[in-house]
Order: sequence, then structure tokens, then C-alpha cells
Amino acid sequence: MRVLSGIQPSGSLHLGNYFGMMKKMIEYQQNEELLCFIANYHAMSSVSDGKALGLGTLEAAANFLALGMDPEKSIFWVQSDVPEVQELAWVLSNFTPMGLLERCHSYKDKVAKGIAANHGLFAYPVLMAADILLFQSEKVPVGRDQKQHVEVTRDIAIKFNNHYGEVFTLPEPDIDDNVAIVPGLNGQKMSKSYGNTIDLFLEEKAQRKQVMRIVTDATPLEEPKDPDNCNVFQIYRLFLDKDQQEALRQRYLAGGLGYGEVKGELFETIRDFFGPYARRRKEFLADADGLRKILAQGAEKARYLASKTLRKVRKKTGITY
Ligand code: ADP
Ligand code: TRP
Repeated sequence: MRVLSGIQPSGSLHLGNYFGMMKKMIEYQQNEELLCFIANYHAMSSVSDGKALGLGTLEAAANFLALGMDPEKSIFWVQSDVPEVQELAWVLSNFTPMGLLERCHSYKDKVAKGIAANHGLFAYPVLMAADILLFQSEKVPVGRDQKQHVEVTRDIAIKFNNHYGEVFTLPEPDIDDNVAIVPGLNGQKMSKSYGNTIDLFLEEKAQRKQVMRIVTDATPLEEPKDPDNCNVFQIYRLFLDKDQQEALRQRYLAGGLGYGEVKGELFETIRDFFGPYARRRKEFLADADGLRKILAQGAEKARYLASKTLRKVRKKTGITY
């Protein structure tokens, strides 16, 4: 099965990115054909500082590699190193009704928040469709917030296939319901744009501060507490197996457990879990040319696959003359 996903290089990584998407991607390498890229063109909708985008791209690469992305077992590249994606996006634009894009929640949400809409933001799902269809992807692991974009991709592919004949594989979104939405410090979806994240690679003091900011209720220390409505529990459980979750649940229900105490434990758990990855990440970042080399090799493999699809598209549409 061919599995593909992308991540934007905009800002630091948080637990929502890791548990919502990256962890699963890295696991897929074992048994599936995994394609993974850094969506730097997409990031332009929120990053307009050139230096920050360039650095962010290298950092995103180091993050993935440190967390276990293996360029021998997968194809791993930077979106803009495969320019074929822009050509396909243009072709697909002609099979994308305006209404389809106007209905996209992520676009509507951003506009509602006062972000000035431009064509890049509006056409974002078309570029995403090109990312997916260019590689004939079958499965697309994403958080629930991206599900609609995969559905839009299917709609566009169906329209194209109906018109020109079968060219594109129809992708399925792959959403893990267990971690579909990782809650942030305040219980809302963890997201950079809400400022409610716990970041993976942060120095100790700043990360402790984030954990301590998790919002809890005012239940007195000695009273039983409800794990299902506790933001600390909902985040902590991501690191625990079933038995460990149950044990923590019992401690909540028994009373006498302070939120400060659980937060302290959660903080230590996060440090232990990501510590070894943080060290590897530093090593990757110290060798930017080494990183670029890995990415160039990935792009070469990706371009080979891309060219096969694009050849068909050009022929069918008459762009090849
Ligand atoms: P953010 O919302 O912080 O801007 P991105 O949009 O860059 O995060 O998301 C990158 C990937 O991580 C996407 O696949 C997205 O669905 C996933 N993701 C982000 N936040 C969460 C979350 N809180 N829970 C689950 N998945 C998430
Ligand atoms: N839009 C995705 C996000 O913000 C990133 C992305 C771009 C992507 N192209 C993709 C994800 C293709 C999956 C497949 O998270």
C-alpha cells in the first residue's frame, strides 16, 4: 500500500503533530511504501519570512529524521524539490469548482479569524490534491482537521478521471480515532495557532512551563477527580499503554492526587520519551549539508514517480502536443 503525507515546516513541533500524524508515519515504514514530504509551499500561506521558511524546512527534516524517518525505507523530500507538483496543481485547478473550495472549513476558519484571504490560501487544497494524486497515493494519514482536504482531493480526482479516463488513484484519509485530536493546554485542539501547545524539542525550563500551564479545574486535592474531563490525563494517556492508563485512572478516582503532582510526572515522562530524539535532532541540525544531501536523494526518487503520473496527465490533456 502506498502511504503519503506531508507536514508544514511552520514553527516548532508539538505533541499534536507527533501523536496525530508523525508517529504513525514512522511506523508505516515497516510494512508499507511510505512517501513523506515537507510542505514548504503550503507553509507560505502562514510564513512570509524567507529566512524562517528556509531554516524551518531544514528543522522539519531534522525532526522527522531524528524521530525515526529512515530515507532507506521511505521516500522523504521537500515539496518544492519536486516542481512537477505545481504543474499538476494547475491542471487540477481546472477540475476544481469554486464551491468546493469555498466550503473548506480550514479556509473558512482562517478567514473568520481575520486572516486576509489570498489566492494561495484559497487554492491550498488544490495543491494538496496535487501532492496526493501526483504519487498515486492510496492512504493519507492526517489529523481529523485535514480529512476534508483529502475528500476534496477525491472529488477532484473523480472529476478528472470521469473526463479523461482513469489516471488517478483515489486516496483514503487515514485517521486514528484514538488520537484524532490531541487536546492542547486548554482542552481545545492543540495547535500552533491557538498558542496551547506542548512542544517536543524545547529546553527543559520552557517545556516545564508549558506543562504547568495545562488548565485544570478547582477540585480540592483530597477529592476524587474525573480523568475523562481532565486535560492533564487526556495528554498523559498518549504516553501510556492500556494498563498504565487504567492505573492512572484509579489514582484520579481515589482522591488525594494533586494536579501539580500529575503534571510533574507528565513532564518527566515527556522528557524521558523525547530526550534521545532531541539529541539526534541536534546532530542532524549540526550538519546542514548532510541534511540537504539526504533530501536531494529523496527528491530524486520522488521525481521519478511524479514524472510517470505527469506523463499520463500531459498526454490525456493535450499538453503534450
Ligand atoms: P497546527 O494546527 O499546529 O498548525 P499543522 O496544521 O501544521 O498543526 O498540522 C500538521 C499535522 O499534524 C497534520 O497532519 C495535522 O492534522 C496534525 N495535527 C496537528 N495538530 C493536531 C492535533 N491537535 N491532534 C491531532 N493531529 C494534529
Ligand atoms: N495540509 C497539511 C497540513 O497542514 C499538510 C499537507 C500538505 C499534506 N500536503 C499534504 C498532508 C498532502 C497530507 C497529504 O497538515
